[in-house]
Amino acid sequence: MNEFVYSYPTKVYFGKGSAAKALKAELPKVGKNVMLAYGGGSVKKNGIYDEIKGLLTEAGKEVVDFSGIMSNPTYAKVQEGARLVREHQIDFILAVGGGSVFDCCKVISVQAKTEEDIWAMEYEKKVFPSAGIPLGAVVTASGTGAEMNGGAVITYEEKLWKGAIFGTTPSFAVLDPEYTRTVPKMQVLSGAFDTLSHAMETYLGNSDEDNVSDDLALAVMKNTVVNMRRLLKDINDMQARSNLMWDSAMAENGILKCGRLTDFQTHQIEHQLGAYTDCNHGQGLAVIQPVYYRHIVKDAEKKFTRFAKEVFDVATAEEGIAALEAFVKECGLPTNMQDLKSTVEITPELLRNVADSCNIIKSNPRELTHDEIYDILTECM
Ligand code: NZQ
Ligand code: ZN
Repeated sequence: MNEFVYSYPTKVYFGKGSAAKALKAELPKVGKNVMLAYGGGSVKKNGIYDEIKGLLTEAGKEVVDFSGIMSNPTYAKVQEGARLVREHQIDFILAVGGGSVFDCCKVISVQAKTEEDIWAMEYEKKVFPSAGIPLGAVVTASGTGAEMNGGAVITYEEKLWKGAIFGTTPSFAVLDPEYTRTVPKMQVLSGAFDTLSHAMETYLGNSDEDNVSDDLALAVMKNTVVNMRRLLKDINDMQARSNLMWDSAMAENGILKCGRLTDFQTHQIEHQLGAYTDCNHGQGLAVIQPVYYRHIVKDAEKKFTRFAKEVFDVATAEEGIAALEAFVKECGLPTNMQDLKSTVEITPELLRNVADSCNIIKSNPRELTHDEIYDILTECM
């Protein structure tokens, strides 16, 4: 095990009815002016907005709505939110949605506290924010685990860049599987594949042998696959949704990453593909991950073999990757670029730009070159 510090700032309220329980306990601790942030409107249709707004009003809060946070949230949307926070002297942000709403709000929280441009501060000055407006997260679509950490993934459209910006970690998170009941099937499965990907990417980072983080990551992968298969039989299986909701949190609350390095090269490739095409995150991963693994299988054969045996019950490293690919098909997730709902035509030139602007990870089984990333992307066509 490498050296590490682990502290966990997010209080989790899990299970049916936990929004009321959480907000009654947490709202008295925060100021009067609350920004209620959400996405494109699903929460208005399914009644979650009314329920949360009612709880805020009951607690005597002045509520300012911030709506329309899009999937793959943009830097411009962050700036819009930060202006609103300053204008209304917001004391607390309640983010209600999936990873996109949480990520946007994490960065709004810190941007609102500084006059400096947060991207320039983090990427040019290498200074990370020390202050933010307190934030709570109510999960309505699970998979990213974004409610459990302070990292945000933001698309900076002008720079054709999608990447991490550090913001505020939610002080509490509400995980009520009932709140995910209306998520469309494809999004449920894309989200769950993202969870699977987080555990795989963590497991494949360089680490000592026989560490408990590897064992935990394999357990999360196995449980995610089992419960995704249950959802393929019955998408309304709420027990499976509930299991997946906790898998999602477990994969990104840092516990799997203790004492080890991580891979996350697939995420780097997918994020840049997202910057150019605005594709769905989990679906982009489903396309790229098996192809990337075929490129690095010989560099981590022992780990891939263990993954094959424990997650898919097959014998060899190569069979494990084939089983992962077959699982993507079984779920009806995209298997190639053409199946991704890109906003633009995916051409070789676009893929070259994605490859050339992609971050290269150094703690994975083998460091790739930009040319090899281009080959991987081309093989995904
Ligand atoms: O916008 P609305 O109308 O709410 O619709 C959303 C959206 O279209 C819908 N939805 C959410 N809850 C619903 C619902 N529809 C019906 N009923 C409900 N209860 O779901 C759609 C997708 O939402 P989104 O938040 O975009 O999905 P997801 O949770 O997969 O988040 C994706 C974003 O998270 C980033 C991704 O890159 C992407 O930008 N990630 C963040 C991470 C982190 N901060 O730790 C880690 C991940 O690796 C990932 O990169
Ligand atoms: Zn992810």
